[in-house]
Parts: sequence; structure tokens; C-alpha cells
Amino acid sequence: MLHSHRCFCVLCAALTAALAILLCAAPQTAQAAAPAKPVSFIREVAPLLKEKCIGCHGAKNPKGKLDMTKYASFRKGGTKDDPIVPSKPDESYLISVLTAADKTRMPPKDSGDPMTKDQIGLVERWIAEGAKLDAELKPESDLLRELRLRWTPPPPPSVYPYPVAITALAFTPDNKKVVAGGHHELTVWDAASGKLEKRIHTRARRAMAMAFLPDGKLAVAGGRPGEEGDVRIYDLNGSKGKTENGVAVLDGVNDKSVSVKQLLDADDEVLCLALSADGKKLASGGCDRMVHVWDLSGGYNKIKELPAIENHADWVFGVAFTPDGKRLATASRDKTAKLWDIAAKESILTFPDHQNPVYAVAVKADGTVAYSVGEDNQLRAWKAAPEGKQIRNSGGHGKLIVKLVAHPKQPLLVTCSADRTVRIWNADSGAAVRTLSGHGDYVYAVAISPDGNLIASGGFDGEIRIWKSADGTLVKSFNASPGLAVPVKK
Ligand code: HEC
Repeated sequence: MLHSHRCFCVLCAALTAALAILLCAAPQTAQAAAPAKPVSFIREVAPLLKEKCIGCHGAKNPKGKLDMTKYASFRKGGTKDDPIVPSKPDESYLISVLTAADKTRMPPKDSGDPMTKDQIGLVERWIAEGAKLDAELKPESDLLRELRLRWTPPPPPSVYPYPVAITALAFTPDNKKVVAGGHHELTVWDAASGKLEKRIHTRARRAMAMAFLPDGKLAVAGGRPGEEGDVRIYDLNGSKGKTENGVAVLDGVNDKSVSVKQLLDADDEVLCLALSADGKKLASGGCDRMVHVWDLSGGYNKIKELPAIENHADWVFGVAFTPDGKRLATASRDKTAKLWDIAAKESILTFPDHQNPVYAVAVKADGTVAYSVGEDNQLRAWKAAPEGKQIRNSGGHGKLIVKLVAHPKQPLLVTCSADRTVRIWNADSGAAVRTLSGHGDYVYAVAISPDGNLIASGGFDGEIRIWKSADGTLVKSFNASPGLAVPVKK
């Protein structure tokens, strides 16, 4: 089932509010066509079905066994027959459920507003005209995919009117720059000076996770909440792009030398990414509960997808490989963390102690211990096999912990939290080493430089702070919303 993307956890509520402020693209609703033109199913009717119906009538376990994600399955009907009698809206069960006043009304009364009169009128006219499928489509075409293909991303604002919440961060392989997720773009900043160097327009409205691959290309997971998700590989040096106000602007939507590969096209956001220690495997997890794993050993143009893993009951917020690359730890909104055998596609153990959504996982460099964090504010350590017994509860933050990252070689663990702080932990002992304070808002993203010397953290208010990991001193802070007029702090 397509997730309606309604999550009431603190994390999502705050992010949704942030997006509402920044939202430039109007929601895709069908517009009344000029009377002369016949109604187009894909352009006018399908967007309505997507908005009002497909959340319950998706491809997986559709309600009433009616799958509306394909024209063919829609016309096949569910427990009842074809809901449409072509040319006869009055005899079509579809119109009857749209206009019903009793409990047969769709969408059901407790789950959403009915279609408007105009919208129902449009569906009636489409049926009256023969309920035809557009000539360019096949009855078996995936309608959600077809709708995505017809959507073009807006350009990012050249000057941000409001701060953008920083939902993903990564250091470049040379430790010198930080890549941040913006609104329909990635931005590259010099870590020492806080200067904006590059902007890369992306189809995804926001980036949720990033990982630099061994060849220097950047894998990014993200999407549009409730609409689509993707994992793409970008070459940040693939094109000179154009220059705007002294900043290079690259087209990561259409320029194939910048957006070099798309690994995943999903019906909802992709939330996390992890690269194995040897750089040969990449994994993602997302709102569709799926965990995907790719074999990168042949280079980025010979990437092989391994069988996907599906077993969490809810969104997958975090993934991390064990050092041998054979197992994967995952964190889910279903309140568990799990450890998987990738080849067997089997869950080896479940760690249930958080009893709250689990937002991130990491595995210690020797592979014996996994760490996880979540809405219970705790950093917990558990045995990575044979059973997921808790070893330690290291305490945590004053509020929910959003992210947890581990350095692949050094015993360096870093968490960031809604309590506006970043914390450094010793991955060997599990002890808190120091707390980095100064963010003025929730801290959503954190990254460690490849050499382990720097930590970058990003807040809900767009602020990025660069810290020295050895002593916690602040190197630089800046707002990563391009062009934003930042009020002077008193
Ligand atoms: C919140 C979930 C939900 C949403 C949203 C929803 N439906 Fe349903 N729908 C159901 C359920 C549950 C049933 C099964 C009802 C029953 O069997 O009594 C159903 C059954 C149906 C059926 C009968 C299928 C059959 O063959 O038995 C039709 C037709 C239908 N829905 C159309 C729609 C349309 C059109 C929309 C969007 C305007 C919509 N539904 C939105 C939950 C939903």
C-alpha cells in the first residue's frame, strides 16, 4: 500500500511544517479542461485517484481488492465488478461511491474530504466520453510512475525566503567541503569559510541521506514526501554548469553528466543510505518499508541490484552495514532495529528495546556491537549476534535523537538531537565524550569528515556548524539557505 505519508511523530511533524513554509510547487490537482477537449485519464482523472483513492487502493493489499494503480486492474474491479460502465456515468458504481451520502462513500467519511463537485463532474464526463485510456498508455502501465514522468521539478529558489531545514549532510572525500540538502537542490560549502561554492538542482525536493562512493561520485537518497522517492548518483564535477553570483549552478535534473545514474524510483521518499566499508555495496531504506542493496564492485555503470528485503512493518529510517558487508542493521518506525543476512534475505535478530520509533543505526568497526537511537532519546548498544541483547544504555539526549553516524575506522560515534545539541561518544566504551551546544534549533543531520577530524551538523533553521572532533571547538557556522537574509543574533 502506498503510504499516505501521515506520520505524527515529532520529527515528521516539524519537517512537514518546514516544508509547508518553503512549498513552491502547487499540489498536482486536475484542472477543469476546456469543454471542447475530451478528458484525459492520465492528466486529469489519475491525479485525482492518486490524491483521493490510491492510499487505500494501491497495488499491495488494496481495500475491497480494488487496485487503482493500473487502468487494467481498476477496470477489473475488486470484490465487485468493473466500477465503470463506459458512456453511462449514471450506471457506474464509481460515480455512486463518489456521490453517496451513506457509508459507501469514497473516500470513507473518516478518512478524507469527498471529491468536489467539479472533480466528480470531470470523472462523469470522462466516463460519458467512453472511459478511455490515453493512447500513449498501456492498460498495464503503472499510473503512479506515469504521473511522475509527467511531473517536472521547479527550480530551487535563487534566494531563499525562509531557511531550509538541513536534512542531509556529507563531507567531500578531501575533508574540505560540506554538501547539504536544500530545496530541490544540493549545495556545496567550503567548511573553513562557510562560502557557498556550488548548487546542484535536483528532481528530489529534499535529500534525506548522502554517501560519497569510492570513485568520488555522490549517492543521494530523497524524494517528495508521499509522492516519490529516488536514489541517484551525482558527479558534482561532471559539468562546469553556469555561474550565478559567483556560484556554479549545475543541472542535476537533465544533465546526464551531473545526474549520472538513477538506482531507484519509488512511490514514496527514500530516507537512508549506507555504504559498506569496502565501498562495494550500497543500501537504502524508505517509506515503502523496503531495503534495497546494490553491488557497486563493477563501477557505477555496471551496478547490480541484489534482491530487496522487506520485513519491517513500517518506514525504514536507518541502515548500516557490518564491517564484512554481509549483514545489514536497520532502524524502523515500527519501533525495532533489526540485523539482516543480505544473501539469505533473512532477519537474524530483532532489537525491541527502544519501544519507540528507531531513527538510526550504526555498527562498531569490529562488527560485534550495534548502536541505535530513536524517539526514546536513548543511545542503546546491543550485541550484533547471536541475539540482540542490550549491552548498554548509554543515556542520551534531552529529546529525540535524529541521527547517529559512526566513523568507519576510528571509535567515533556522533548523535544529533531535537534538544539542539550534538554529542560525541566513544564507540568502544559507549561513554559520552562531549556535548556540542550552540544550535538554535533541532539538529537533523550530522556527518563526520573522512579523516575523522571534523564534524558537521545541520539544523531545522538551516544553520550548519563545523566542529573539531578532538576538542569540540567550533570552526565555522553559517546558514545553508542560499541568499537568505539572516537576522543578526543579539
Ligand atoms: C481510507 C481508505 C479508503 C480510501 C481513501 C478510498 N477507499 Fe474505496 N474502499 C475502501 C474500503 C475499506 C473498501 C471496501 C468496502 C467494503 O468492502 O465494504 C473500499 C471499496 C471501494 C470500492 C468497491 C470495490 C469493490 O469491488 O468491492 C470502490 C469502487 C472504491 N472503494 C472506490 C474508491 C474511490 C474512487 C476512492 C477515491 C475517491 C476510494 N475508494 C478511496 C477504503 C478506501
